[in-house]
Amino acid sequence: MKRILSGVQPSGRAHLGNYLGAIRQHIEMAEKYEAYLFIADLHALTTVKDPEQMKKQTYDLAVSYLALGLDPKKTVFFKQSDLSEHAELCWILDCIVKMPFLERAHAWKDAQAKGKKEATVGLFNYPILQAADILLYQPDLVPVGQDQKQHIEMTRDIATTFNNTFGKTFKIPEPSIKKEVAVVPGTDGQKMSKSYGNTIEIFADDATLKKQVMGIVTSSVPLEDPKDPKSCNVFQIYKLLATPEATKDLENKYIKGGFGYGDAKKALLAKILDHFDKAREKYQELYPKQDYVYGIIEEGNKKAKEQAGKTLEEVKKKIGYK
Ligand code: ADP
Ligand code: TRP
Repeated sequence: MKRILSGVQPSGRAHLGNYLGAIRQHIEMAEKYEAYLFIADLHALTTVKDPEQMKKQTYDLAVSYLALGLDPKKTVFFKQSDLSEHAELCWILDCIVKMPFLERAHAWKDAQAKGKKEATVGLFNYPILQAADILLYQPDLVPVGQDQKQHIEMTRDIATTFNNTFGKTFKIPEPSIKKEVAVVPGTDGQKMSKSYGNTIEIFADDATLKKQVMGIVTSSVPLEDPKDPKSCNVFQIYKLLATPEATKDLENKYIKGGFGYGDAKKALLAKILDHFDKAREKYQELYPKQDYVYGIIEEGNKKAKEQAGKTLEEVKKKIGYK
C-alpha cells in the first residue's frame, strides 16, 4: 500500500484554504493510502512565541481535523514536537545541505525582503526540518497546497544528496497538489493565509464567520449592473464549495444584474454554514473532550515513533554512528 504524509502548522485557526488545499485531501486519501499526518508545532515556533497560544492552537487544530472527519483508525495522527527524531534528522541533514541552496527558498527570500535582522535561524532552516519530517516516514506522496511545492522539491533534492553520499536510504517523495484548489483566494484576493489576516475560519463562531465573509473585498459595480463572476473573490470562493449547478445559477445572477455583492456574500455564507454544518457541530461536541483528543495523539505518537525510529536507525548506520 502506498503511503502519504503531511503536516499543518498550528499557527492559527484552520481556514478554507487549508481545508480545500490540504485537509480535505488528507482525510480522503487516508481511505486508500497508509496515512501519516502531524501537527507541525516545531515549525510553528518560527512564528508563535506565546506558550498559551501554542497549546491552544495545537489543540484547536487537532479538534478541527477530527471534526472534519479524520479517522484515527485510518491515520497515524501525531504531534511533531513529541518525537525527537525530527530535530535529530534535521541536524544530520543540516550537515549535507549547502547554504546557497537554502538561500533560494521563497519563504526565506520574503523574510529577507522584510528585514534581515528579524529572520531567525529557525526560519532559514525551516525547509530542512520539513525534509526531515517527510523523509523519516518514507512516503510516496505528500499532499499539500501549491505554496508548499518548493519545499517538497527541496526535500527531493536533499534526499538525493543524502542517498548519493551515504547510499540509498530515502524514498524520493512526490508532491500531490490538486489543481482546482492549489491556491484558494482570501478575503482580499491574495492567497488565503493565516499570515495575511485574510482567512475565513471554518470553526469561527457565527458572528465572526459572518464578519469574515461580509469583509470580502469586491468591486464598486452598482447593484443593478451586470457583474463579472470571474474577477469576483466571493464567486471564486463560492464555486470551490458549490455543485456545478449552484455555481451556474450564481453565475447567471451575476451576469443578469440586479444582484448585489451583499447578496452574493449572503449566498456564500449560507453555503459555508451548510457545507460545514456537521463538522461545526462535531467540533463543539469534541472540544471539551480533552482526554479523548490527547489520547488519540498519544496513540499516534507511538505509531509514528516506530516508523521514524526505524528510519533514523538506518540513517545512523549509513553515517557510521552505529
Ligand atoms: P497558512 O498559509 O495559512 O499559514 P499553512 O502554511 O499552515 O497555512 O498550510 C497548511 C496547508 O494548507 C498546506 O498544505 C498549504 O499548502 C495549504 N494551504 C494554505 N493556504 C492555502 C490556500 N490559500 N490555498 C490552497 N492551499 C492552502
Ligand atoms: N510547511 C508546511 C506548511 O506551512 C507544514 C509542514 C511542515 C509540512 N512539515 C511538513 C507539510 C511536511 C508537508 C510535509 O504548510
